[in-house]
Amino acid sequence: MNVGVLASGAGSNLQALLDLVHGRDGIRISAVASDRPQAPALERARQAGVEALSFPRVDFADRVLRDEAIAHWLHELEVELVVLAGYMQLLSPAFLSAFPAGVINVHPALLPAFPGLNAVQQALDYDVKVFGVTVHYVDEGIDTGPVILQRSIELAVPGDAAAVLERLRPLEHELLPEAVQLIARGAVHRDPPGSRRIRVER
Ligand code: GRF
Repeated sequence: MNVGVLASGAGSNLQALLDLVHGRDGIRISAVASDRPQAPALERARQAGVEALSFPRVDFADRVLRDEAIAHWLHELEVELVVLAGYMQLLSPAFLSAFPAGVINVHPALLPAFPGLNAVQQALDYDVKVFGVTVHYVDEGIDTGPVILQRSIELAVPGDAAAVLERLRPLEHELLPEAVQLIARGAVHRDPPGSRRIRVER
């Protein structure tokens, strides 16, 4: 299965995918795209010999055209599954329906709690005691798509958002590669078909 990754930032989740799934079990990270030409994620991709390209918003008349260009490039590289690994832009509905295996995202909270930006700060403000990570399919809403995998951690004295993110990182780096492996293996089903219920075969 050919996987395309979209990333806006540091790319530590991309690195986990490159280290843990790229070139194994028939999975190939074939392309990495970013909205930011300077995103370290692009350099990580190039270091791993993966095609990397940026699509800055200013180069396109609107977001839909930018998304079309990204989808076109990913299709040229025969991408089937798209992984959002810290991609900080909304995607158009046309982009979301353009990939046969879907588009998935990693979010640093236990959805449906704390969707959108600053999820960890939202969780701290709410004073939760259990934090976590969700990998989900992306639909047209903000972090509203069907949940594939979740993992939690109890933090009685969580510290600030940066400290919590530090504790969540290893969970993200486990969960996202795991979800990609499961999808590649054909172990993730919508059951019943077309519904938002996900059954994962272990
Ligand atoms: C992660 O915390 C992820 O949950 C969120 O964006 C961050 C990306 O980090 N969606 P990185 O660029 O993969 O290091």
